[in-house]
Amino acid sequence: MKQDFENIVILTGAGISAESGLATFRGAEGLWEGHRVEDVATPGAFVADPHLVQRFYDARRAALSTVEPNAAHDALARLDAEWRGELLIVTQNVDDLHERAGAKRMLHMHGELRSALCLGCGERSRVEGDLIEFPPCPECAQQMLRPDIVWFGELPYEMERIEQALMRADLFVSIGTSGAVYPAAGFVQSAKYRGAYCVELNLDPSQGSIFFDESRMGPASELVPAFVDELLG
Ligand code: OAD
Repeated sequence: MKQDFENIVILTGAGISAESGLATFRGAEGLWEGHRVEDVATPGAFVADPHLVQRFYDARRAALSTVEPNAAHDALARLDAEWRGELLIVTQNVDDLHERAGAKRMLHMHGELRSALCLGCGERSRVEGDLIEFPPCPECAQQMLRPDIVWFGELPYEMERIEQALMRADLFVSIGTSGAVYPAAGFVQSAKYRGAYCVELNLDPSQGSIFFDESRMGPASELVPAFVDELLG
């Protein structure tokens, strides 16, 4: 790998949090914590059974306090602190392990477990506890809150900022994602089209593996610290 990169975009997925103890999405039997994705991760699922969906995300939110960032999150936080060029960590994850590790130049394109979205006024607010009792929105006090998660069929957050960063990137790194969900799965092609060097760090080859210049296979807790050491020289 050459060494004179300036602007980096890093895409992370569930694989980076797996060794912290959070389940990936497309694991055994294609179930997410025992549920089919369409039963808990679509607007239609919320309309059909709001209690099931609230309970599901309440449990995921509660689980956050039982896990810690791992060596891969720590390494990316170190890269963020020490990298002099532009850097953007785009996570598809709804956990808070990147920020708890200390990363600052990052965004959650698929929403956050510790955020709630008002069904009336559309404001986003911090939430630490459960939403199962449908507490009122702290902004408008009128309407109820739903999990601030980008469900299938909804638009991811901050796509313009991501596109701008991809346009300037000369290094694109994808970590712990299966490449099954668009638009994130298409970032490698956008980055490559604009001339960025593309590296994949994953346990298994992702669906878009052929688009990467380099693929390193193994656990994120080993691959990511080694890769960051290389970058920081
Ligand atoms: P997936 O569950 O689809 O993929 C996880 C990837 O991580 C797989 O390719 C695994 O091989 C890899 N992996 C597992 N353990 C690993 C480890 N210890 N080290 C490195 N890699 C490891 O998860 P995502 O690609 O993140 O969307 O899924 C994308 C989106 O689909 C999610 O953000 C979610 C889901 O539906 C929403 O909730 C909107």
